[in-house]
Amino acid sequence: MSIRMAVFGTGYLGATHAACMAELGHEVLGVDVDAEKIERLRSGDVPFYEPGLPEILRRNIESGRLSFTTSYEEAAEFADVHFLGVGTPQRRGDYGADLKYVHAVIDTLAPLLRRPALIAGKSTVPVGTASDLAERLRQRAPAGDDVELAWNPEFLREGYAVKDTLEPDRIVVGVKPGGQAEALLRDVYATALQAGTPYLVMDYATAELVKVSANAFLATKISFINAMAEVCEAVGGDVTLLADAIGYDDRIGRKFLNAGLGFGGGCLPKDIRAFMARAGELGADQALTFLREVDSINMRRRTRMVELATAASGGSLLGKNVAVLGAAFKPQSDDVRDSPALNVSGQMQLKGANVSVYDPKAMDNARKIFPTLDYAESVTDACEKADIVLVLTEWQEFRDLDPAALEGIVRNKVVADGRNCLNAPKWTEAGWTYRALGCAAA
Ligand code: UDX
Repeated sequence: MSIRMAVFGTGYLGATHAACMAELGHEVLGVDVDAEKIERLRSGDVPFYEPGLPEILRRNIESGRLSFTTSYEEAAEFADVHFLGVGTPQRRGDYGADLKYVHAVIDTLAPLLRRPALIAGKSTVPVGTASDLAERLRQRAPAGDDVELAWNPEFLREGYAVKDTLEPDRIVVGVKPGGQAEALLRDVYATALQAGTPYLVMDYATAELVKVSANAFLATKISFINAMAEVCEAVGGDVTLLADAIGYDDRIGRKFLNAGLGFGGGCLPKDIRAFMARAGELGADQALTFLREVDSINMRRRTRMVELATAASGGSLLGKNVAVLGAAFKPQSDDVRDSPALNVSGQMQLKGANVSVYDPKAMDNARKIFPTLDYAESVTDACEKADIVLVLTEWQEFRDLDPAALEGIVRNKVVADGRNCLNAPKWTEAGWTYRALGCAAA
C-alpha cells in the first residue's frame, strides 16, 4: 500500500528517510526551509557523504515517487503522514536540547492541516516533548483531534543509514491508544513488518526514552572499554585483547567495545548531555550522574592522545611535524561534528605542532570548522617530513597502509594508533615505533 508522506528536514535523518520511504514504494515529498539544499536534492545531489544514498535518491526522483519542496502548503495538501526529521542541537548556554526547529515545523504546518493527518516525530527530543507537541497541534490545527501525533524514533547510524532505515532492528511507536496512528504506521512500515521486524507500541514518554537510553547505553559501553584502556595503560595490559575476551560472553558482546579516541559526532555526545539536563529538570538527575563520568572518560581520551603523541615525539610537540590521518568522527562519514580527530589536531596545534590532516571524505567540512590546520592532498602528502604519524579515524585506507610506502617520506618512523586499528606487528617489523591508546607500549 503506497502512502503519501512528507518528511520535514532534509539533513542526514530526513533525506535518508525520505529516499528510503520512496524506495519502499511510498510517494514522498521532502521539505526544507533551505532552498539551496532542496535544489541540490532535486537534482539528485546528496549534500553529505552517505554510501548508497545517492543511487536511491536518483532512482526514486526518476520514478516520480520522490520530490522536494520548500512549500509547507504543498506538503499539507499532499501528505497523509508528516514525518519530523529536523535537528535538535545543543542549546546555547546549557546542555539541553534546543527544540526551535521542531516547534517551527509544528507551528507552520499545524494551521495548514484541514483534514485528518498523522504527524510522526523522528527527531531525538527530551522526554516529555511529544505530549507538549500534541497539545500544541491540537491548539493550532483546524482539523483538531483528527490530527494525531506519534513518536517514532530513528536509530540510524551514519555510514549505514540506508541499511538501518530499510532494515531496522526494531520499529518503536509512541501513540495515544485507540487512534488511527498505530495502524497507519504499520502500513508505512509494512515491508519491514513482513520481514519480521519487531513493532513495539508504547506511550510517548517511553518511545522518547528508548532513543536516548539506547544512545546512553552505547556511549557507556564505549566509555567502559576506554576506562579499561586507562587501566591497561597503567598496568601494562592490552585493551584489545581484553575486549575480545570479555566480548565472547554473549551477555557483553564484542560490538561497541573498540577502545581508542572515544565517541564524537552529532548524536552520542550531545544526546547524553541533553539526557542529563532533562533528568535534572524532572528531578531525576541522580539516576544519570554516571553519564557525567561517561562523558568525562570520553573527553579524557582526547587529552590522553595528545599526551601520547607528545611523549612519542620526545617530550614536546613544539615545532614538530605531525601527520594526522582522519578528520571525520568515524569512517564512512564526512561528518566532523565533535570529531575527536579534529579536537586532538587542534590541541596539538596549540602546543606548537605543525599539523597536516588528511581524510578521504571529510576535508571540505574540516576546512570549514578548523581553517587554521594544514590540509594535505593524500596520505603521503600529509606524511611528508612527519616526525610522527597519528591515525585518528579508522578508514580502511589507513588500516591497509603499507608502512614501507612511507619509508623516505616521513622524518621519523613513529606511528600512534588512536583507534587500535593498525596491524601492530606489520609496523614494528617494518622498523616503526608503534604506540596505541590502551596497550602496554602506550
Ligand atoms: C549513533 C547511534 O549508533 C545511532 O543508533 C543513533 O541513531 C545516532 O547515534 P552515529 O553517531 O552515526 O550513530 O555513530 P556510531 O556508529 O554510533 O559511532 C559513534 C561514535 O562512537 C564514533 O565516534 C565512533 O568512532 C565511536 N565508537 C563506536 C567507538 O569509539 N568505539 C566503538 O566501539 C564504537
